[in-house]
Amino acid sequence: MLVSRTKDLVTLEEFIIKSQQKFPHATGELSQLLRDLSLAGKIIADEINKTVVRNASNPEGMTEEPQERMKRLEEFAETQLTFALKRSGIVCSVITDDDATPDTVDPNGKYIVILDPLDGTFNVEINASIGTIFSIYKRFSEPGTTPGEAESLQQGLNQVASGYILYGSSVILVFTTKNLGVNIFTLDESLGEFFLAIRDIEVPDEGKTFSLNTSYYNGWDAGVKRYYAKLRGEKKSDEEDDDNPKPVYSYRYIGSFVADVHRTLLEGGIFLFPRSDYYPEGKLKLMYQCNPIALIMEQAGGRASAIGKRILNITPTDIHQTTPITLGSVKNVLEAERELRPLDEQSV
Ligand code: F6P
Repeated sequence: MLVSRTKDLVTLEEFIIKSQQKFPHATGELSQLLRDLSLAGKIIADEINKTVVRNASNPEGMTEEPQERMKRLEEFAETQLTFALKRSGIVCSVITDDDATPDTVDPNGKYIVILDPLDGTFNVEINASIGTIFSIYKRFSEPGTTPGEAESLQQGLNQVASGYILYGSSVILVFTTKNLGVNIFTLDESLGEFFLAIRDIEVPDEGKTFSLNTSYYNGWDAGVKRYYAKLRGEKKSDEEDDDNPKPVYSYRYIGSFVADVHRTLLEGGIFLFPRSDYYPEGKLKLMYQCNPIALIMEQAGGRASAIGKRILNITPTDIHQTTPITLGSVKNVLEAERELRPLDEQSV
């Protein structure tokens, strides 16, 4: 059992009902949408577990190549999430990273859901964490019609809720509905129930962990190289004091966005995916990855930006567009923003 005393347990269901009671005008639709997503999350977690166990216990018996396995899991996740969102007639369209043509779910539905159904899937091969990321917007067209393209290209600021499900050593659901902070739930697999693990989490103001893929070093801009040197505690010259102090920062990079974000949310510090010659506009997707996570970070008291520009303020022009991103503890992100600016702008 997750917690030994039943009286202390708060289920996701209970949390949702009690939260909704605080808002007399709430219709309960957003609550239902979160329930639907959590149901899909349980089904996806179960399929990932089975795949990992089958692979580990009988690798010779696995007929799938790793690429096929990843594709199957991604399609499975997408199908389950879409099925779950079709159940309640609340969602008008679902847009997924793999298939950007909006799937009209119910023309009368009030919400648009943008999904990265399974991010970092290759990590399944090494039993590392992967995740589902979701972003929820309100439509502004009349119910009964098909929402227009502009409705799927809203600024991140317009999100009414966002979150992620982390499939790792345990299954974790993290979401924000803006007015209730960021809350973290853990799945007790034996009971099939998500329990509240951390209420209203706050990302520490400052952290000692930095996270970015350093193999892109040769393609980084000068500002990123400068900031990286600072994080590593690089001396400016050989004359500097040589008593070899312990480094201030620890380096951690999983290469699975949800997992790197989850660590940053809990421990503070900074995660960066800057632009480079390899990814001139960054690698991570604004609508599927950066906006939902930026909302989580901000609601938890952290910061998320793209070279000084707030992620949530970016006006999207393409559902697939990518953006550089820097996120985490406010102090770390502000420091990075200062360093990442080109030198000729630094005195301005
Ligand atoms: O977008 C897919 C993804 O796997 C993210 O989950 C992760 O943060 C990123 O790519 C890792 O990219 P790279 O392997 O290039 O560092």
